[in-house]
Amino acid sequence: MHMLRLEKAWIALGLATMAAFFITLITLAVAADLNTPNTDGMTIDPAKVMQTPPFDKPGLHQIGPHLYEAYYVGQIFSWRPNQLSVPAGSTVKFFVTAVDVVHGFTIPDADVNLEIMPGWVSEVDKTFKTPGDYLILCNQYCGAGHAGMYAHIEVTP
Ligand code: CUA
Repeated sequence: MHMLRLEKAWIALGLATMAAFFITLITLAVAADLNTPNTDGMTIDPAKVMQTPPFDKPGLHQIGPHLYEAYYVGQIFSWRPNQLSVPAGSTVKFFVTAVDVVHGFTIPDADVNLEIMPGWVSEVDKTFKTPGDYLILCNQYCGAGHAGMYAHIEVTP
């Protein structure tokens, strides 16, 4: 089959670009430990979130000095807990799930951005160094009240 030289060059460029992306992805995942938030694939029955510990009592649990676990449940149109408070310098391990539809768990001032899907528990660790009021938003359109779906974390000095 006859192929034009330019055609071959474009195919080579396409393959080289794909190879570059693939190598970058693998390198970042292995060397810099950059992975999707849900690497261990923790699942939960979305119909039984309210009966499944620890999500039956969403909130903050201290597990060590300056170390906390925060369990959040997203549901149209709110996050539970709506408000919590930690001292500056604390590391918070977030565990977030949803009972109904896909939501987005975002803390813009802390570079936290998780996709929250019913049936899955999304996780991220974050250290809050600077005191202040951190807004948690929903960044996935989830219905008429989407814009009102927010909560607060207060980081005290
Ligand atoms: Cu929840 Cu938008």
